[in-house]
Amino acid sequence: MNFNLSIPTRIHFGSGILKDAIIKEEKLFSGIVLIVSTEDMDRLGFTKIIADIVNSLPNVEHTVQYCNITANPKLDEVNKGIDIAIENNVKVVIGVGGGSALDAAKTIAAGTGAKEHIDKYFFGGIQPDERTLPIVAIPTTSGTGSEMSKSGILSCTEKKIKTGVRGENLYPSVAIVDPELTYTVPMRITMETGFDVLAHAVESYLSKASNYFTHILSEQAIAIVAKELPALAGDINNHAAREKMSYASMIMGINLGNASTVLPHRMQYPIGALTDTSHGTGLATIYPAWIDLTYSYAENKWNCIGKLLSGKECTDKHTVYNAFIDFMNKTCGRPKLKDLGFSGKDAIILADMVTGNIGLDPAGSKEMVYEIYKKAIAE
Ligand SMILES: [Fe+2]
Repeated sequence: MNFNLSIPTRIHFGSGILKDAIIKEEKLFSGIVLIVSTEDMDRLGFTKIIADIVNSLPNVEHTVQYCNITANPKLDEVNKGIDIAIENNVKVVIGVGGGSALDAAKTIAAGTGAKEHIDKYFFGGIQPDERTLPIVAIPTTSGTGSEMSKSGILSCTEKKIKTGVRGENLYPSVAIVDPELTYTVPMRITMETGFDVLAHAVESYLSKASNYFTHILSEQAIAIVAKELPALAGDINNHAAREKMSYASMIMGINLGNASTVLPHRMQYPIGALTDTSHGTGLATIYPAWIDLTYSYAENKWNCIGKLLSGKECTDKHTVYNAFIDFMNKTCGRPKLKDLGFSGKDAIILADMVTGNIGLDPAGSKEMVYEIYKKAIAE
C-alpha cells in the first residue's frame, strides 16, 4: 500500500467564518493584495466585503481588484491580470468566485511571481516554480474543488485549446470555505457544479492513481452528493444541504491533487473549448456513454458507486447506469452532445482535441475516447 499524499493548503471551513478566517491568516497578507474575480461577484458585493476585511489588516497597503474573469477563463484574461499585478507590485493573490475565478487567480499568481505571461506554462506543460505568489482561495460555488487543487484550467480561444497549468506551487496557501457564500447561487449553476463534485468523486475513485485514503473521501463525497443535491433541487434555500455540498466539494479538491480525474474530464475540455458551455454540462453529456462502455473495466468499483448513489444494491451495468440516469433526472438533467450542435463526424475531431493523461482511466485509450464521443453524439 504505497502512496504519496499532498494536502499543503490550510483549510478554514464553516458557515459565517469568512471574516474570522481572513483575520486569523493576517500574517499571510502584506503590501498590495490583488483580488481576482468575476463581474457577477463584484456586482453582488462579494469582492467589496473581502476587500474591506483585507484592507483592515495591519500589513496591507491596499487592495487592487481585477474582476474581468469569464467562464472557461481565457489565456488573455490571465495575462492581463498578470500585467496588472506586476504593475502594482502585488504580493498576494486572492481568488473569489467559482472555479473560473480561482483557476485564474492561481495562474495569475504563477505568472506574476515569475514576471512573465502564462503562455509557456499553458502550451508547454511547464510547471510554475516557487516564485508563485501566495494564493488565497475563497470559493463561492460548491463544485470545482479548485481551492484545494494544484491546477488552473484555462482556454485559448484562438487555438480552441482548453487545458490545465499544473504543479505543486499552484496549491493555494489557504482555502477559506464559507458555505454562506454559496447561498445565492442559482438553481442551474448549483446543479451543474454539484454534478462536477460527483464527477470528481467518481473519477478519482476509479483512477489508477487512487489509494485507500482517497477512496474513503470519494465514498463520503458520493454519499453526500447523492443525498444533498436532490435536496437542493427541491429547496434551493436548504442551507444545511449547501454546507454539506461545500464540504464535499472541498474534500474532492484533495482528491483532484492526489488521485486525479479520468476520461470524462479530459473529454469535457474540447466540448468546453468549442461551445463555451459549462464544465458540468459537458461532463453530463459524456457520463452515460462512458459508464456504458467502461463498466466492465472496473465492475466492483462501479457497483459500489451505484449503491452509494442510489441506496440500492447494484450488481450489473444496467443497475449502475440507471442509478446515474435517475440521479441526473433529479438534478442536472441529461444534456446531449447533439443539442450542443455536434453530429457524427465530430467524434473524430473531438477525440483529436483531447489532451492530458488518459492512462489513469481503467479503460483509457485513444480508441475508447473516440467510441465514447461517438456513442454520446448518437444518444
Ligand atoms: Fe471538474
